Amino acid sequence: MGAEKSRVLLAVCGGIAAYKACEVLRGLQKAGCEVRVTMTDDATRFVGAATFEALSGSPVATSLYDYPGSAIPHIELAEWADVAVVAPATANVMAKMACGIADDCLTTTLLACSCPVLVAPGMNVHMWRNAATQANVATLRERGVRFVGPDSGRLACGDVGEGKLAGVDEMVAAALALLAPRDLVGLRVLVDAGPTHEAIDPVRYIANRSTGKMGYAIAAAAAWRGAEVTLVSGPTSLATPAGVRRIDVESAAQMHDAMLAAFDAADVAICSAAVADYTPAAPADRKLKKSREHLDAIRLTETADILADLCAAKGGRLVVGFAAETDDLLAHAREKLDHKGADLVVANDVSRPESTFGADTNRVALVSAEGVEQLETMPLANVADVILDWVRHRTSRR
Ligand code: CTP
Repeated sequence: MGAEKSRVLLAVCGGIAAYKACEVLRGLQKAGCEVRVTMTDDATRFVGAATFEALSGSPVATSLYDYPGSAIPHIELAEWADVAVVAPATANVMAKMACGIADDCLTTTLLACSCPVLVAPGMNVHMWRNAATQANVATLRERGVRFVGPDSGRLACGDVGEGKLAGVDEMVAAALALLAPRDLVGLRVLVDAGPTHEAIDPVRYIANRSTGKMGYAIAAAAAWRGAEVTLVSGPTSLATPAGVRRIDVESAAQMHDAMLAAFDAADVAICSAAVADYTPAAPADRKLKKSREHLDAIRLTETADILADLCAAKGGRLVVGFAAETDDLLAHAREKLDHKGADLVVANDVSRPESTFGADTNRVALVSAEGVEQLETMPLANVADVILDWVRHRTSRR
């Protein structure tokens, strides 16, 4: 995404899942989008317009006649939007969209939209399965409307089956996919992310503060820009980004093997994981008992360096590493660049709140043979895009 924010029109319909639209709005904002909202009257019975107004920072369009600052809100909003997201989409609104009915602000605005439209249905399983609904979905698909979900599960009415609104992250990723430039089509990107867990015994382990957010943001951004993405993930609580193949690992040794194996089918490797540098030399195969073992030290052995081993095997391919430091950031980053043989080291100071573990922002410097580029603090999605821009630039020069 460029400096100008992408503009998303969020169309909220009257379903019990309307509250999830608040999280979709937040997720889109986190990804750097500006969001405006239109709602049906029924939707306002589930979540008040004031909530969306406060979250979006803009008036919410619920009527064609009293939108502040505009006499024709449906045209203004339709022309403003880069993408429209209908979430949750009811059977009724999908039927109206399929028939071109415009009898309130939301449906009139959607009829006026010429941007890509994403529909996230949420309804009772019988309403979803109804032949009329399915015919409307088919019609809309034929016209180029995209769908995300519905999922299967327990529905608000108590029924179990298809009709559950898609997950928030999935909806956000699907919306971003409609916005993103497809400039990485054909590129195979391998990413590692998260911490590793090094077993002391079957119950205890040594780990670090990494959450995996940076690596997941890179995987998500690469996928929505069209790359084929494999994510080797240490233990995290994050959802797999849409379109990403994920391989779960626990230890540094497992991550090493998974990365080296997957590198055969990759053009670029991006090592964002906080891999443990040391692992217990002889993990116990049963739980250590304090009454018996009186453990007062753990003998450690060094783990294999994944980044260095990928660099040794890379040939003409690109390898990007990270340097998470608390002092002498650039000196350490340069040292890692030279010592490990990476093409780029992304350096961040983890002692600063805006770039520490778990933050939704990062402030990084790109360190390569060409020099150092210090970037401002940005949301992780934008940092991911900057790194991928660097990769795209380098691969296109070859
Ligand atoms: N890295 C790796 N395998 C390891 C250790 C680190 O692939 N066993 C990678 C990280 O994913 C990161 C880069 O090496 O891309 C630098 O990691 P960092 O922890 O900052 O540095 P270390 O090499 O571990 O050195 P030090 O702990 O001395 O800073």
